Amino acid sequence: TIVILDFGSQYTQLIARRIREFNVFSVVLPCTTPLEKVLELQPKGIILSGGPSSVYDDAAPKADPAVLATGLPLLGICYGLQFMTHHLGGNVVPAPAREYGHAEVEVLQQSALFHGLPQTIDVWMSHGDHAETLAPGFQIIAQTKNAIAALANEDRRMWAVQFHPEVAHTRQGMELLKNFVVNICGAEQNWTPAHFIETTVARIREQVGPAGHAICALSGGVDSSVAAVLVSKAIGDRLTCVFVNNGVLRKDEFEKVQRTMREDLHLNLIAVDSSERFLSKLAGVTDPEKKRKIIGNEFIAVFDDESKKIFEAEKSAGEEIAWLVQGTLYPDVIESASVHGPSHVIKSHHNVGGLPEDMKLKLIEPLRDLFKDEVRRIGRDLDMPAEILERQPFPGPGLAVRILGEVSSDRVAILQEADAICTEEIKKAGLYRQLWQSFAVLLPVKTVGVMGDQRTYAYTCAIRAVESEDGMTADWAPLPYEVLRSISSRIVSEVHGINRVVYDITSKPPGTIEWE
Ligand code: XMP
Repeated sequence: TIVILDFGSQYTQLIARRIREFNVFSVVLPCTTPLEKVLELQPKGIILSGGPSSVYDDAAPKADPAVLATGLPLLGICYGLQFMTHHLGGNVVPAPAREYGHAEVEVLQQSALFHGLPQTIDVWMSHGDHAETLAPGFQIIAQTKNAIAALANEDRRMWAVQFHPEVAHTRQGMELLKNFVVNICGAEQNWTPAHFIETTVARIREQVGPAGHAICALSGGVDSSVAAVLVSKAIGDRLTCVFVNNGVLRKDEFEKVQRTMREDLHLNLIAVDSSERFLSKLAGVTDPEKKRKIIGNEFIAVFDDESKKIFEAEKSAGEEIAWLVQGTLYPDVIESASVHGPSHVIKSHHNVGGLPEDMKLKLIEPLRDLFKDEVRRIGRDLDMPAEILERQPFPGPGLAVRILGEVSSDRVAILQEADAICTEEIKKAGLYRQLWQSFAVLLPVKTVGVMGDQRTYAYTCAIRAVESEDGMTADWAPLPYEVLRSISSRIVSEVHGINRVVYDITSKPPGTIEWE
């Protein structure tokens, strides 16, 4: 185990994630965790993360300085370097020039930390303070043009870097972290997906106990499916999954998802077709936020009804549902717990939020520390079908936010056809997996066209395809003209109601991925 003490950097979980990439187990703990709790984990080494403060701020995150005297190998990153310097007798001051972004680092001295790395490395810096005088016994082992980039006291097995090795912009960051974690600390590289699955399943089994029940809202997407499979491995049919047709799913999706969940994943599934209920609530509504709210609230109402039914059945059998399974991922956690306060509501994403009071459900979130690609790796190890694991993200409010203007069953049917063609052509061109998302949007704009000798007057459809790492920022994808051509000609000739296709060339920001 490697312990990462978190001083509040937005990159802390990325350190853990990099370490998992070379199959080492690590735990992120708040920097205020008492030292004996840290040592109980019998770590092979400790990493002190970055953080937003200066060591002189009153509000600066505090860790017990005794953490610097355990004799275990230590790596300080950014704020971690300053914390070490400050508490070991050096001096930290505001830097004359703040460094932010790319920097070139020159390695001055051979050190176990830079083993096998080139003489100059490209790194990502983000700091306002720097070390002015070193703590006794420390040496500068690397520098940038303006400042110290890395320090070491090899006798005491302490290293510190001013830059962020965990971010992708630091090119040799992985090698550097691996040097510390594997070579210096000697951590075992046995934390594989199989290991994750085994320990997670065992933990859930213990939490839920021999008679506990859980419910889970399935969307058919990667996250909720992987979470459900993990829980069902732990408690079998004591997990009931609920899948709701909200009337704005993709073509044949309601049937396809049911089949996969039952036949391939052997989940205990209740499928509820509430499409009429949703569509009647959506009638006449054109405002994007209102559509989202209606779908969110309706979903909660349907899920509540179903859970109550399951709840009553279990209760009369003398058992109790006590658990709600959610496929929350780490990026969802940071977004909702931003240190800078609640961020501006751009779009209201919905979640299961209003379950009956008397059910007092406790949450099981087995994927809470993971990133999406890691969830896919876990899913592959669980032998889940590629069809689920490679699915592009799909918004909770479904096609409703891709039908601009009023959502009606006719317009849903038109978009379902256009969207199915778009997906088919993208898959045929072998582009589906490398795109973050690719889909069709139905505009409320009618234009004039000609087919054969007939004048047409029908809707416009926009095609959207983006590349992205995490959905937070995205670039519009330069789809090959051939692919655009086949999508366009097939939609216009096969979909009744659309006579014009346009391509969206807006990145995010300033656009968003979905049109509403
Ligand atoms: P935007 O449109 O905000 O979308 O750039 C970013 C990513 O989030 C997805 N999205 C949603 N996902 N519920 C979801 O679960 C929602 O209400 C929702 N709205 C947008 C969107 O598809 C993209 O991947």
